[in-house]
Amino acid sequence: MDTTLAITAALDAHQGEAGALLPVLHDIQDALGFIPPQHLDVIAAALNLSRAEVHGVISFYHDFRTEPPGRHRLKLCRAEACQAVGSSALQDHALRRLGLKAPGTSANGAVTVEHVYCLGNCALSPAVMLDGQLHGMVDAARLDALLDALERS
Ligand code: FES
Repeated sequence: MDTTLAITAALDAHQGEAGALLPVLHDIQDALGFIPPQHLDVIAAALNLSRAEVHGVISFYHDFRTEPPGRHRLKLCRAEACQAVGSSALQDHALRRLGLKAPGTSANGAVTVEHVYCLGNCALSPAVMLDGQLHGMVDAARLDALLDALERS
C-alpha cells in the first residue's frame, strides 16, 4: 500500500478521537508493516502533538517498528514461564542461526526476530510465534525445522 495513502487513511479513521495516536500508529503498521520515521511530522501535526511525543510513544512500545520487517516474523517469548524452561538458550540459537547479535532482521531480509512477553501459551513453554502461528515446547531442533521449512517455501 502507498505510504501516504496508508497514513491518510489511518488519520481519517481516527479523526477527532481522544487518544487517537495509538490506534493511528497500529493502523499504519498494519498497513505498511512499520511506521516510516520520515512521516512522524505529518502524524504529529494531524494529531496536534509534537514529533517528540509521537517518537516517544513509538519508542516505548516494542511492538512498533520504524524499519520494514523481514518477509517472516519470529516472535520469541521472553516472559517468566518460557525463561524457566530455556527460552534464553533458544533465543541465542535463533540469533546465531540467523546471523544476528540482537533481535532484528536477518541480512537477507528473510526473518525478523522480536521479543514478546507472553504468548499466552505458558503451559507449552518455551513458546514462539512464526508468521502468526503459535508453536509450543520449542527446542533448538524444532526451531531449526521451522526455519528450514521457511527456506524451502
Ligand atoms: S511465558 Fe511464554 S507463553 Fe507465557
